[in-house]
Amino acid sequence: MRKNIVAGNWKMNKNFPEGIELIKDILEQSKNVDKAELIVSPPYIFLSEAASLLSNSTIGLAAQNCSNQESGAYTGEISSSMINSVGANHVILGHSERRAYYGETDELINQKIKLCIANSLKPIVCCGEVLQERENEEHFTVVAKQLKGMFENVSPEEFKNVIIAYEPVWAIGTGKTASPEQAQEIHEFIRETIKNSYGSELANNLSILYGGSCKPSNAKEIFAKPDVDGGLIGGAALNANDFIAIAQSF
Ligand code: 13P
Repeated sequence: MRKNIVAGNWKMNKNFPEGIELIKDILEQSKNVDKAELIVSPPYIFLSEAASLLSNSTIGLAAQNCSNQESGAYTGEISSSMINSVGANHVILGHSERRAYYGETDELINQKIKLCIANSLKPIVCCGEVLQERENEEHFTVVAKQLKGMFENVSPEEFKNVIIAYEPVWAIGTGKTASPEQAQEIHEFIRETIKNSYGSELANNLSILYGGSCKPSNAKEIFAKPDVDGGLIGGAALNANDFIAIAQSF
């Protein structure tokens, strides 16, 4: 059966001591979470220290991005093998902020997905429409196109490692959440789309997370939907109490 997952995307927040403090607080409070797997995603430069703090726990550790190149003369880039070598086990890919501010395309994200899996990292692959697309009722078409592009030539064996996050861009950091019904209908659509490419078993085992202004006050209703398997949390993941309260919403 698929796993419930609550992953915190810290984005570009916290300095090093603050980040370490947050990891320690989450670690301490994680004893009170029994129905979801937790993943934290601090900035790259905290990963190594985070990995040693989390080494005896079941909390997963994700990078927020990785290079689309294996190694070499790519100044400023971080490869998936480097991420693996410091003890992280997941990578968030295709976040809408990467698409909007750094021009990432489905094709580029596809290269990153393949490299991550080759380096034993599980990608948390994001999709989701912008407000205009939702208003034009194009969200299904947009998400289908993103999935097709991002998973081009990803084999079923590779796909087993994938987690998908549906994040409607209009709900990210806006305080505006998708309704549980809106989340369910598109999560169901995503699972159906994956089923058509990879078959029922992989589709049923796939964890699909919701992201976008998810908070302790709304997580329970959203996570209660059958195709919502947890959340990718931004703002509320920067506070251990809120993050843990969300993870206790199953
Ligand atoms: P917020 O929870 O701050 O809306 O961010 C969601 C997100 O982008 C997680 O990746």
